[in-house]
Amino acid sequence: MDTKQLMEWSDKHLMAFAKRYPVALVRGEGARVWDSDGKEYLDFTGGIAVTALGHCHPKVVGTMREQAATLLHVSNLFHIPQQIHLAKLLCDHSFADRVFFSNSGAEANETAIKLARKWAKEHGASDRGDIISMRGGFHGRTLATVTATAQEKYHHGFEPLPGGFKYVPFNDVRAVERAIDSRTAAILVEPIQGEGGVNIPDDGYLAGLRKLCDEAGVLLIFDEIQTGMGRTGTLWAYEHAGPTPDIMTLAKALANGVPIGATLATDDVAQVLTPGTHGTTFGGNPFATAVGLTVFSTLIEEKLPERAARTGRLLLDRLRALQKKHPSVITDVRGRGLLAALDVVPPVGTVVGACRERGLLVLTAGDNAVRLAPPLVVDEASVERGVEILDRALAGGGA
Ligand SMILES: Cc1ncc(COP(=O)(O)O)c(C=O)c1O
Repeated sequence: MDTKQLMEWSDKHLMAFAKRYPVALVRGEGARVWDSDGKEYLDFTGGIAVTALGHCHPKVVGTMREQAATLLHVSNLFHIPQQIHLAKLLCDHSFADRVFFSNSGAEANETAIKLARKWAKEHGASDRGDIISMRGGFHGRTLATVTATAQEKYHHGFEPLPGGFKYVPFNDVRAVERAIDSRTAAILVEPIQGEGGVNIPDDGYLAGLRKLCDEAGVLLIFDEIQTGMGRTGTLWAYEHAGPTPDIMTLAKALANGVPIGATLATDDVAQVLTPGTHGTTFGGNPFATAVGLTVFSTLIEEKLPERAARTGRLLLDRLRALQKKHPSVITDVRGRGLLAALDVVPPVGTVVGACRERGLLVLTAGDNAVRLAPPLVVDEASVERGVEILDRALAGGGA
């Protein structure tokens, strides 16, 4: 079926929750994808920071085939070996002692909020439940996580929103200090804001939050759904800054595209979830966690965070050179590892469209930023080629 027919049916039968690009992708390999008309693209969206190992990585495909043919799903009423192994691996490579698996980033954050509120109630007054989050952040689309996301554009029409959320500016320790009171349960923050525009806080910001939390007996939650799994050049983005959280949430790249979410916590926090207090049907099932196990082991064995740091330096160098070449079009370049953004003067949709026409898929972020999140396995030649296409798109040259 051709793209035109697919788009007609899409318009007619799907809820229009996203403004979709006029492309239907049907096949992928590494950092490349092909559309239903056979056109090839360089994929610097990575499924929005999901396909860390690239499309159709042989080890991931192998695990999926094997696990689907062995045991797809059983309930959490039973012990699930793949889930146990993945939890142990995540704990061995992070601050955490325990993991709860779910199906998405929003669900991982819901669990984090529930954990923090229950912990706070067991460690203080019964009215302690407020979550302080940062303006410009993004935490998901369920009612609680969309409320934790400060921007009103995400709330509009969905009121009444759940209570117990407060917002402060990002990268401002003093603002958090002023906002903390006897009702505060936790601070929720992305170590680097992804959807908000790849906003990197000052050195010392996360350490400042850690200190405040320790002094006030408040939990610190890092949402590493976009930044985790090596994306920023270290396994977890919090490693750039030093302090560890009490709770961390993951999703996106954890199973390279198979839906999964994970909420990691210290023993002290995790013990508030006793049997019957929380649950999930699909979360942590044999299929998703077998794939997660393969993805995470491959990430560690092949040292992909280090590779992302190296390739990311090249990407950032090239983007800075591009800014020098087009100073009236690119006003800022930011990035860490393979998560990068450039603020552009023309409407960002025009730039994204011009890239797409020339065979490069990129994302938007914040108000007017082009965001790049290629797979962590992307090679240097593809980075050079991607930046060349971006250059031509910004200059308005031919494909
Ligand atoms: C930092 C962050 N948290 C949470 C989410 C929500 O994840 P999901 O779409 O899997 O619910 C996202 C998605 O973009 C995200 O970037």
